[in-house]
Amino acid sequence: MMIVFLGPPGAGKGTQAATVSKAKNIPHISSGNLLRESVESGTETGKKAQSYIEKGLLVPDEIVVAIIKDRIVKSDCKGGFVLDGFPRTLAQAKVLDGELKKIGSKIDIVFYFAVSKDSVVLRLSGRLICSSCGANYHVSFVPPQKAGLCDNCGGNLCQRSDDKKETVLERLRVYQEQTEGLIDYYKKNGILKEVSSDKNIDDISKDIFLIIK
Ligand code: AP5
Repeated sequence: MMIVFLGPPGAGKGTQAATVSKAKNIPHISSGNLLRESVESGTETGKKAQSYIEKGLLVPDEIVVAIIKDRIVKSDCKGGFVLDGFPRTLAQAKVLDGELKKIGSKIDIVFYFAVSKDSVVLRLSGRLICSSCGANYHVSFVPPQKAGLCDNCGGNLCQRSDDKKETVLERLRVYQEQTEGLIDYYKKNGILKEVSSDKNIDDISKDIFLIIK
């Protein structure tokens, strides 16, 4: 099953994508994680992407598209995937449709995570990520068992550099300007399902699994 998770920063896409990926045994492909990995490994792509990420702006389409194209042709994607954070522009959406068509495939469902701005700010200001394995926590909503340490690997937890309040507000502005239009694009294609993300994590998962069975 080919699934896309669409929604503003902090809507809970990554959290739910991890759960769906595990339950359905399909890869969780996060464009943000792939870009951050390139930044950390100091690749040319990472060097180009870094300043956009830190400012809360979208990384240019050609860079992100190249990363995603490479990823979705890997053998583990044959049975499907959860795309988290891609596409984010109409151009990206069209490339994705075209690439999937080439292999006789298509997106089955796009989940749109509807969430209030207050929840976004609250979630991102308290988010912690593991500097080793990338696992996601929240100081109040998903606290680690030992403060500052990852439950999975014992790595140090830190704040993402783009989770500072002013950058979060910029990411929300960019989302409204460049990504929100995709809701209509997928609605017209008849594959959009809206889930309310102003709920607790387990209730959102239940809503998603009712749809994907
Ligand atoms: P990316 O990493 O994709 O960030 P994002 O879309 O802004 O999404 P987030 O990771 O902030 O939030 P999320 O919805 O995944 O929420 P999460 O589950 O983590 O992108 C980062 C940057 O990379 C972009 O700004 C851009 O520069 C670049 N980029 C990436 N993709 C790109 C593309 N396609 N094109 C161009 N540029 C691109 O949850 C957030 C927090 O809330 C966590 O702490 C979590 O524990 C907690 N939480 C989750 N759900 C709940 C809940 N229901 N209740 C309470 N807390 C919750």
